[in-house]
Amino acid sequence: MKKLVVALSLFILLPICHADNHNVGVSSLSPELQQLFSKEMVQLNLGMQEIMNAYISGQWGSIVPIAKKMENSYVLRQNLSKNQMHELHSKLPKGFLELDEKFHYYSGMLSHASEMKKTELIGFYFAKMGETCVSCHSIYATKKFPSFALQIKSDEHQH
Ligand code: HEC
Repeated sequence: MKKLVVALSLFILLPICHADNHNVGVSSLSPELQQLFSKEMVQLNLGMQEIMNAYISGQWGSIVPIAKKMENSYVLRQNLSKNQMHELHSKLPKGFLELDEKFHYYSGMLSHASEMKKTELIGFYFAKMGETCVSCHSIYATKKFPSFALQIKSDEHQH
């Protein structure tokens, strides 16, 4: 019964969500997954701040476990059922999944660079990681971060 209600409400809500194509990525997911996703983002943000603190104070060793956690996902990949995993891969757009993959690649590289205590490389991969946050938000999170939507509009004006 509960499943039926969820299915029906998705049926009703999906066309509305799809009308807003900039936020299709996450808003097409079930409420449980959306919540997990949001938790994940908050953890990522904290992780970035912790890494910045460690980076500027020469504590490279403490970057390693944070970057590894990011690479393996804080919550999103760990607590998922098979069905939820399938839902993620079938509902999220290809571009979204590609950016997610890029993000995980860079966090992996950041943890290697930190293990080797290569300050310049740490800075490089930290910046690359930050770029993937911005790339994804500017396409798929303009509701949460409306400045990106304004930016796209002003870019369009210039051309
Ligand atoms: C592949 C896409 C993608 C990547 C990569 C990504 N994000 Fe996000 N993020 C999103 C989306 C989509 C939302 C909006 C979710 C929503 O509207 O509920 C979001 C929301 C957030 C939020 C707000 C969370 C909330 O619910 O209050 C924070 C903070 C955040 N992201 C931080 C980060 C940081 C830091 C990084 C990089 C280290 C990052 N994100 C990388 C897609 C991404």
